[in-house]
This record gives sequence, structure tokens and C-alpha cells, in this order.
Amino acid sequence: MAPIITSIINLKGGVGKTTITLALAHFLAIEHQKRVLVIDLDPQTNATVCLITENEWKERDETGRTLYQLFADQVKGSHRFKPDAAIVRDVSNVGGGVPGLDLLPSSLRLIKVQDRVTQITDFETYEQGPIFALRDALAEYLPYYDHVLIDCPPSLGVVTLNGLAISDSYIIPVVPDTLSLLGVPPILDRVEHFGSRTRRNIRALGIVVSKMRAQTLLHNEMLRRLRDDFVARRYPQIFQTVIPESTRIAEAADVMTPVNTLQQKYGNGGPYEELSALTREYLAYATR
Ligand SMILES: Nc1ncnc2c1ncn2[C@@H]1O[C@H](COP(=O)(O)OP(=O)(O)O)[C@@H](O)[C@H]1O
Ligand SMILES: [Mg+2]
Repeated sequence: MAPIITSIINLKGGVGKTTITLALAHFLAIEHQKRVLVIDLDPQTNATVCLITENEWKERDETGRTLYQLFADQVKGSHRFKPDAAIVRDVSNVGGGVPGLDLLPSSLRLIKVQDRVTQITDFETYEQGPIFALRDALAEYLPYYDHVLIDCPPSLGVVTLNGLAISDSYIIPVVPDTLSLLGVPPILDRVEHFGSRTRRNIRALGIVVSKMRAQTLLHNEMLRRLRDDFVARRYPQIFQTVIPESTRIAEAADVMTPVNTLQQKYGNGGPYEELSALTREYLAYATR
């Protein structure tokens, strides 16, 4: 069985990409018993250090067991990256590790190597160069998973394109303000363009509104405008579930504090319920 592969994308930082990736991964693994792989493509390594400790990440990075090595191989013509060794199994601070929740860690050194990889990429045809490095490296390993979630950096460079090249669909998290909404159409256009060049249909699964401040006029107005634009077919579907701005959600990023349940991680009631609902909605869209 092939997994369902989804990229979480926005050209802006700070819109909740990593937070949503991590929440979906946890809820899919724990509440739906899915086998989940998180691929952290962002050189900021936020998803990585929310799932494993910084010490473990460092040790892995120094020994060629992060995505740095995959892209360094492309530049150097070496073959040192071994997915089996790089994938960290049963990660997270929930219950001392969640069975079936795995991570392919990122690296701060991706920034540098991405520049060099870009130089050997043919952006006209995408046929030359390392757009398919991730796909080729993981071919044997992906069938093991039910879901693969790809946390993308805020760009559509070669590293992100590697994620899109294996994705069936993508999600766009947005904060409901004017500048964030203006950023959506360029993403739709560029993913569409990349999909048609590589002869793949990469489905826009929807827009997730995150960090919503329900008490502000602006956020409510923007949410209304988004829903209108969807009706007018200017935007893909807007997820019914809206993720509120909540300190509990921000604090859940800490991997050093052991917890036993998702309610403990995300807080009883509010945030927990919303993230659980988001995951059910995701499953409904992704599998139809
Ligand atoms: N729903 C939320 N409520 C409160 N803080 C949030 C929420 N979502 C994200 N944050 C915080 O906002 C910052 C950016 O979120 P993050 O998920 O890292 O965004 P991105 O990956 O798009 O850069 C982080 O400090 C994160 O903890
Ligand atoms: Mg991020």
C-alpha cells in the first residue's frame, strides 16, 4: 500500500506549518493508530527538535543521519545517506515515544547545501539534478507508512520541491490577516506549475486557518473573506476546523517535558479538541 503523502506549505514563516504538521502526526499515530513519518525539510529544524532532543539531533547530524547528508551526496556524488539509519523511530515526548511515529530529521546545514544543490538543478525541465533525490532515497521505505507529513521551509526552493515531488497533496496554513491571504495565490500557481512540469497532480487539500484570535475584528473579517473566496472558487477548500491562538499549543512544542497523553500535551478541552477535529477532517479529505 502506498502512503498518503502531504506537504505543509506556505512561503511565510510563523503561520503554524510546523505546529500543524506535529499535531497531525501525533493525532494520526495515537488516535487513529496510523504509521506516520514526519519529514522535516526545514533547515530551522523546528519539527526535528520538537520530536527528538537537541543532543540526539546533533549526534545524528554529525554522523550523516539527517537530510543534510542526502543533499550533500547530490553535490559530492557520494552515497552516504542511508534512510534506514537516518529515520528515528517511535519519537516524541508522549509516553516516552509514540509507537509508529517516525522522523526523518533536518539539519541546520541544509541552508548551505541547498545553495549548491540549486546550482546543479535544471528549473526548466526538472529532469536534471536532484529534484527526485528524496523520492529515490525513500522508495523502499515509504510503503511501510500510512501517512507521510512533510514540514516545508518557507520557500519553494529545491529542498521543498523534493517534498512536493513525492506529495499527493498539500495543505496551506494561514494566519487570518491581509498579508497572509495575499500569499496564497502565488503558492497555488507555483505548485500547479511544478505539478504540470513533472506530470503529477498535486492536490490542494485545503487552507487551515491557524493562530486565530476570535476576539479580533480583523481575524473574523479575514476568515469570512476566505470562506467567500472559496465559494467564488478563488481558493481551495477552507478547513472547517480553525486552530485558535493558544499558549497550550505553543507550549506543546517542548520535547523535554514528559507527558502521557495528547490531552496533557495540548491541554484538555479547547486546543486538544480542535486539533483532534482537524485530524479527522484531514483524514476525510486526504482519503477521498
Ligand atoms: N495555534 C497556536 N497558538 C499559539 N501559538 C502558536 C500556534 N501555532 C503556532 N504557534 C507558535 O507560533 C510560532 C510559529 O509557529 P510554527 O508552527 O513554528 O510556524 P511555521 O512552521 O509556519 O514557521 C511558534 O512559536 C509556535 O509555537
Ligand atoms: Mg516551521
